[in-house]
Amino acid sequence: MKKHPIVIAIDGTSASGKSTNAKLVAKALGYVYVDTGAMYRTFAWYCVQQRVDIHDNKAVAAACRKWKTSLECVEKNGLRAVHLLVENYFPEKEIRTAEASAATSLIAAVPKVRDWMKKTQRDCIQFGDLVMEGRDIGTNVFPETDYKFYLDAKLEERSARRAADGVHENLAMRDQRDSQRAAAPLMIALGSKVINNSHLTAAETSALIIGEVHRRMTANA
Ligand code: DC
Repeated sequence: MKKHPIVIAIDGTSASGKSTNAKLVAKALGYVYVDTGAMYRTFAWYCVQQRVDIHDNKAVAAACRKWKTSLECVEKNGLRAVHLLVENYFPEKEIRTAEASAATSLIAAVPKVRDWMKKTQRDCIQFGDLVMEGRDIGTNVFPETDYKFYLDAKLEERSARRAADGVHENLAMRDQRDSQRAAAPLMIALGSKVINNSHLTAAETSALIIGEVHRRMTANA
């Protein structure tokens, strides 16, 4: 029997196809998609807007205590997704610049920020079964889930994917920051299925994920 709610955790390096595949899997299974990177990006954007010194951990933690946010679940083109709003505003485009990416990996290393994010991300379960993508979902946010995936691809391939989206950034540096921070670093969770998709299409990668989810569900039945 299926245990409710189910969380499919998709972690991995930057531009490894987490968003594309998490959305495909969520659509196919009718689950709610959660982009936790967008939540960290939103907080980085908020700090920049509020002129918080993003190199000052105390100032960043204080900003995290005071910002006013809410979660909402929105349906668009057959995909239900969770949005993090700041004072009722959803900064969808603003958080995607290379500048925002660089600021995000700094604020994401602050333990108080990670605590806030973990609580908020666990609260998403109120919306139903989830496909949640990030860096620490299988290791830290939902370590109890049986459905863990870790995506990766060659650096050149990942840089080319980002460039095709019009964003030129130093992915190697961001990977290094994400993997070497003390608080919930990016690593492969125990029990993850690791998929290197350098030579796979998104359709092939998401089919692998869905196949493995079904296999594990049957094993759990
Ligand atoms: O997935 P993304 O590129 O939008 O993530 C932006 C940054 O947020 C990334 O450099 C690391 C951080 N992040 C994190 O530390 N933990 C998560 N669960 C998701 C993102």
